[in-house]
This record gives sequence, C-alpha cells and structure tokens, in this order.
Amino acid sequence: MDTLKVDLGSRSYPILIGPGLLGQTKPPEQHIVGRDLLLVSNTTVAPLYGDALISSLSSRRIVQAVLPDGEEHKTLSNISRLLDVMVANRFNRDCVVIALGGGVVGDMAGFAAACYQRGVNYVQVPTTLLAQVDSSVGGKTGVNHPGGKNLIGAFHQPTAVIADTDTLRTLPDRELRAGVAEVIKYGLIRDSVFFTWLEANIEKLLARDAGALTHAIRRSCEIKAEIVARDEREQGERALLNLGHTFGHAIESATGYTQWLHGEAVGAGMMMAAALSRECGLISSSDTERLQRLLQRAGLPTLARGLTSAQMLEHMRIDKKVKDGRIRFVLLRGFGSAFVTSDYPDAALQRALAAHLG
Ligand SMILES: NC(=O)c1ccc[n+]([C@@H]2O[C@H](COP(=O)([O-])OP(=O)(O)OC[C@H]3O[C@@H](n4cnc5c(N)ncnc54)[C@H](O)[C@@H]3O)[C@@H](O)[C@H]2O)c1
Ligand SMILES: [Zn+2]
Repeated sequence: MDTLKVDLGSRSYPILIGPGLLGQTKPPEQHIVGRDLLLVSNTTVAPLYGDALISSLSSRRIVQAVLPDGEEHKTLSNISRLLDVMVANRFNRDCVVIALGGGVVGDMAGFAAACYQRGVNYVQVPTTLLAQVDSSVGGKTGVNHPGGKNLIGAFHQPTAVIADTDTLRTLPDRELRAGVAEVIKYGLIRDSVFFTWLEANIEKLLARDAGALTHAIRRSCEIKAEIVARDEREQGERALLNLGHTFGHAIESATGYTQWLHGEAVGAGMMMAAALSRECGLISSSDTERLQRLLQRAGLPTLARGLTSAQMLEHMRIDKKVKDGRIRFVLLRGFGSAFVTSDYPDAALQRALAAHLG
C-alpha cells in the first residue's frame, strides 16, 4: 500500500492507494472514525463493494443511501434526499459520510457532508480511475443545475481517501480509458518523466496491472495534492489542472453531454491545447505527434468529429474561464510545463481547432 498526504495544515489528510484495501480491516477502520456513518453509493457500485466495506468496519451504526446511477442524478434534489436521511436518523456533528463510487457519488456525498450541520467529516472511497486520480482529491464538491454543470457546490476536504485499485477490475473499459486521459494530463502539466513512463506502460495500465495502476494513481495524486496544497481555492496554479478542459467542456456541452465521456472530451481537448501551443511556437510538431500517439494507444479520441469551430467557440465563450472577453487556455511550453494565458493569435486558435475537428 502507498500512502501520501495532502498538506493543508489542520485539514491535511492521507490518500491510501493499493490493492485489497477494502477487504482488510485496518485501512477503513483506522481512517473512518465516528459512530454514525452514512454510506453513500449508487445502484451499480453498492452491490459490488458495499458489503466488503461494511464488513471491514467494526460495529457502528451504518445507514446506507443508494442513489440512482448517472450524471443526470447529480442534483440538488438528491442532496436533499441525503440530508433527509441524516436528519431522520438524528445524525450529529460527529457522523461521517462515506462516498463509495465514482466522481458523481463523491461529489454528491462530499457536498451533503459540507452542508449537513455546516460541515461534517467525509471519507472518499473512489472506485473509478477518474475518481482515484482526480475527483476524490482536492475538496471540490457539488451538483449540477439545469443552467450548467457543477454550478452549485462547496470546497470541503475529505478526512481520508482510500483508493482500492482492485475495484477497477469491474470498471468498464471505456470508463478506464476516460480516467487514463486525466492521468496523461498530469504528465503533460507537471512531469515529463511520468509522461515517458506512460508511453512505456500504457498497455499495462489498460490491462489493469496492479503495479502499473498503483504507480500511475500515486504519481497523479502526488501532483494533484501538491498543486491543491499550494492553491486550494483555484486562485492561480490550480487552474493548470484544467489543461484540455476548456476545449473538452465545449465538446461535452455542444453534444449535450450524451455522447462523450468527460475523459474522452479531455483527451481531444488536450490535443487541441497542444495544437494551439504548437501554433504559438511553444512546442514542436514532434511533441504533438507524441501526444497523439499516446492518446490513440489509450483508445482515446484525438478529433471531435461533427463539431464546427463556430460551435466550439460559442460553447467556450460561456465557459467559466473567459476573462475580459478572451478565452483563457492552459498551454504547454513543453511536456511537464503548463501555464495559463489569454495571449494567443486568434488565427492560431482557428488553425488548432480546424486540425482537430472532422
Ligand atoms: N470534484 C472534482 O474535483 C472533480 C474532478 C473531476 C470530475 N469530477 C466529477 O466526477 C464525475 C465523473 O466521475 P466518474 O468518471 O467517476 O463517473 P461516474 O461516477 O459516473 O462513474 C462512471 C460509471 O462507472 C460506474 N462505476 C463506478 N465504479 C465502478 C466499478 N468499480 N466497477 C464498475 N462500475 C463502476 C458508475 O456507477 C458509473 O456508471 C463528474 O460529475 C465530474 O463533474 C469532479
Ligand atoms: Zn477532468
């Protein structure tokens, strides 16, 4: 088992990574302290891992809340449901909310914990690769609103993250690949050695090799933890984690959130960000080709077929990242070195888009 720490002073917490963590008593028992527990999961994950988690916890009062599966259920009304359960069971401020599932469950359980009695503890037990490398770490919680994704939410850090890599065995391939996109992102923004490691180990990762998964999750969490520790509330550096996301969100929203998984859109979005970096003379075409090859080997899209530049621009202009009328992007100065800018020629953006739409 690997353990690392998110360093946030009195709100610091450990991230435990490795196979078999849910089957053992020690990790859950040691890091989930509280007499009353609300175990939040969904209809897919609860039957798979609910019993293993419960059996590793000594006798406490465990109330289960099983939500319907899907991004469309990441709503305020389901937060209400969770809060109703806590009130009905007379949970006090010492209770602990446990999120067992992917990012949707994690964001909702975390937000319910942030709201209940102005904030109670919660523990993340992420079961998708995306949740293990991204959404379970960093304390962003929330739900969608009909007016936009993740519009309602709060910063609320968990007290521990327990990432059992064995849970990834049942994850559909397409979800695994979507998570790999975020892993590649960490290499691009912070660590060219990790990017090279990914080039050498991508097949092992996709084959769910336990050692490769543990290494990739550990390095991804280290990078995210380091950035979050320096900029918890995204005043600056944390924005680097949005590499490929301005393009990616536009792909997702232009297609009505129905065809693309988030990680897939981020894959094509990172390709567009790399193309824009190249158009600005910041990286070479052999760099963009390297990224394209890795994404393709990971089974991720590098083109957003069926979308036009006009559609992409329209959706990017309503993204949160617009400042003074210009769309801000995370660009690359090389692998491992990212920065935020709104200083690029419009013609370069047009060419970068045109190259990755089809
Ligand atoms: N808070 C953050 O910082 C942050 C960061 C990135 C993404 N997010 C959010 O995360 C969400 C996406 O998360 P996700 O990609 O994990 O999607 P998800 O939670 O919808 O999970 C994907 C699918 O896999 C299923 N699943 C989960 N674990 C499984 C397992 N072990 N075996 C089999 N099936 C399993 C789920 O039930 C679901 O059907 C979005 O709502 C996004 O906004 C939040
Ligand atoms: Zn993302």
